[in-house]
Amino acid sequence: MQIQDKLTMPIGVFDSGVGGLTVAREIMRQLPSENVVYFGDTARVPYGSKSKDTIIRFSRQIIRFLKTKEVKAIVIACNTASALALETVQAETDIPVIGVIAPGARAAVKETKNKKIGVVGTEATIRSETYTKVIRSHLPGASVIGKPCPLFVPLVEEGFAKHSITEQVIDIYLADMKNTDIDTMILGCTHYPLLRSKIMAYLGERVHIVNPAYETAMDLKAVLKERQIANTSGTPGTYEFYVSDAAEKFTKFANSILPYDIATTQCINIEEF
Ligand code: DGL
Repeated sequence: MQIQDKLTMPIGVFDSGVGGLTVAREIMRQLPSENVVYFGDTARVPYGSKSKDTIIRFSRQIIRFLKTKEVKAIVIACNTASALALETVQAETDIPVIGVIAPGARAAVKETKNKKIGVVGTEATIRSETYTKVIRSHLPGASVIGKPCPLFVPLVEEGFAKHSITEQVIDIYLADMKNTDIDTMILGCTHYPLLRSKIMAYLGERVHIVNPAYETAMDLKAVLKERQIANTSGTPGTYEFYVSDAAEKFTKFANSILPYDIATTQCINIEEF
């Protein structure tokens, strides 16, 4: 393959559904010339309540699909898949595969002053303790308090991010966390950055909020540069969106969180891959 072809090959980004668009939009912002192929597994969401074996199987299928689009690197935007499947699929894939946990953990380690970090995420992400392990590998002795907040996902997807009911749910989940002296909190789930202002208002100014999406895009930028496969053409990137179900609902959601309207979303049968 010509080097030039390699540079213009897209970045594959995948998630269990729509939430990973919070990561995709950060990639589009920081790497505006890169082409992106996004896949949201809307037929099989949520991943947060599923087993490790299932999440690895789903991730493998999605990577096989993305490879048919000739991607040059893959970003697992989903925290749950990053926590449970990243190591396995990285070992089997011949292109760089980046997850969101290591970048998020690193950002929190940089930010904390008192080594006390909160992590919110899905049941599977928190149970895996992946954030805790990565944080402690950088900051031995750090105290990490994890809290699964499963209702945050449907609240965002049903358009309740700004609703007062979300404040009640935040209070139910985070009251204990608020009574600790954490100074940093990782939003360890794709959907939670969309609740950022409410979570920030609830926890107060002393808690710094980390959205792993920002650092993930920085990691991707570094990997592309190191491998000399970054698209530096200056031409704006093009974006394709695929889902495994309910394409119209996805398009509507995408248009509400991306800074431009997407034309179409294609539905594919992911079980074929
Ligand atoms: N994308 C998932 C994550 O970041 C949240 C939704 C789900 O449970 O699938 O963990």
